[in-house]
Amino acid sequence: MNMKLKILRYGVNGEGIALYNNKIVFVPFALKDEIVDVQILKDNKSFCTAKLNNILTKSDNRETPICPYYYDCGGCNLQHIKYKEQLLIKKLTVENNLSKFANCNFLVNDVIESDKQFNYRNHVSFHVNDKGELGFYKENSNSFVKIKKCYLANETINKCIDIFNSYFFDNKIYGYSAKTKQGTIKMVDLKIVDNKLLVTIVSTKLNLENLEHLFVRLNLLKIKYGVYISLNTSNNFLIYGEKLKHIYGIKQIETNEENIKSFISSYSFLQINNHIKSLIYNDILKNVEGKVAVDLYSGRGVLASMLSKIFKSVYAIEIVKQACVDAENILKLNNINNVKVLCGDVENFFSKIQEKIDCIIIDPPRKGTTPNVLFDILKSKPKIIVYLSCASNTLARDLKFLLHENYYKIKLVQPYDMFPNTPHIETLVVLEKNEKKY
Ligand SMILES: C[S@@+](CC[C@H](N)C(=O)[O-])C[C@H]1O[C@@H](n2cnc3c(N)ncnc32)[C@H](O)[C@@H]1O
Repeated sequence: MNMKLKILRYGVNGEGIALYNNKIVFVPFALKDEIVDVQILKDNKSFCTAKLNNILTKSDNRETPICPYYYDCGGCNLQHIKYKEQLLIKKLTVENNLSKFANCNFLVNDVIESDKQFNYRNHVSFHVNDKGELGFYKENSNSFVKIKKCYLANETINKCIDIFNSYFFDNKIYGYSAKTKQGTIKMVDLKIVDNKLLVTIVSTKLNLENLEHLFVRLNLLKIKYGVYISLNTSNNFLIYGEKLKHIYGIKQIETNEENIKSFISSYSFLQINNHIKSLIYNDILKNVEGKVAVDLYSGRGVLASMLSKIFKSVYAIEIVKQACVDAENILKLNNINNVKVLCGDVENFFSKIQEKIDCIIIDPPRKGTTPNVLFDILKSKPKIIVYLSCASNTLARDLKFLLHENYYKIKLVQPYDMFPNTPHIETLVVLEKNEKKY
């Protein structure tokens, strides 16, 4: 069924939302205030999804996407929207999630812009198809999109696409298929910082054919690089395999983050936008105080190292062993001896801290944290809680718990555009203890 609709607002993925017979209609790639001709694809009980056929009245905020794969790939959903409007949409998303899931109408600051809107990603994991070509899977689908370049990625990462395509082609190395259980390569994971590249090939076997052919090609980049193979024989595509084998070049990327000498390893987490990471870490430092701080979900411990300059003692809790090893090495390298790294699940390790805690920083994965951790946080009664989140819906869910009974009040909600051209948002929330309640 085709129909003419007016787009009233945006959904959480930047899609247009219209109303038809009091039912919500999601129209991907349509902008607010546009009048569009659509075809209804699915008519569910409470909502419809539609395909945009024609734009009858075009918004001034419409932009021509620069990426030729944009409408097929699904890796970014906002390229067709002018940057200023993207920032407004993200601010609105944070406001809506706080109001909907946390029942909180605190004033959200404007989103802080990224210095780059393209080529900002310093870490990309590519899938490989059954012909040995790099690309992405369209979100929530089995449809593989072969790409020559990702406009969000650093340019050296893009140069690697051709390098891997030709190495795999010449050596008849193919991507693993979960369906047929044929093929070898599950993922090619690339991290680049300070022009140093770390490659992790996730593979069903530890030895790949003629690896020297790969090194000859990577040498042409004329940068320092290292290559690992992560063995993963199970039926998933996780980069963390059963065994990690270093096969060539540098073992880690050595760098300097906010005056902390640091390392980036194959398995440890890397904030993907250097500029925004730096702004956030410095904003966190401006909002904390006290003697004892705990950094939950601490990754490689760079933030904990920065906190060591303010606090008498700092605890960092992280589950990935290699990230904890990195953190220990970073502390040694910087002569920091007031940070204790606890390697394990926050859920089990947080309650082991015996000292009186003044400040808790929490930066969990997209799914947020657990009720047990939130309970432990409240039980430890810190003066300040800093919550950094890459998903404002789970952030809002967790805030609802922390704000319950007004033991804490919000001091700051600051979104950052860590992921331009995608609907994702990084948000920093600072909570202060409500002394009147204690
Ligand atoms: C969003 S990252 C933040 C890392 C760090 N704060 C940074 O800025 O680089 C989340 C981190 O939580 C870790 N993690 C995930 N689940 C965990 C858990 N249950 N306990 C401890 N750490 C966990 C991940 O390995 C990852 O390093």
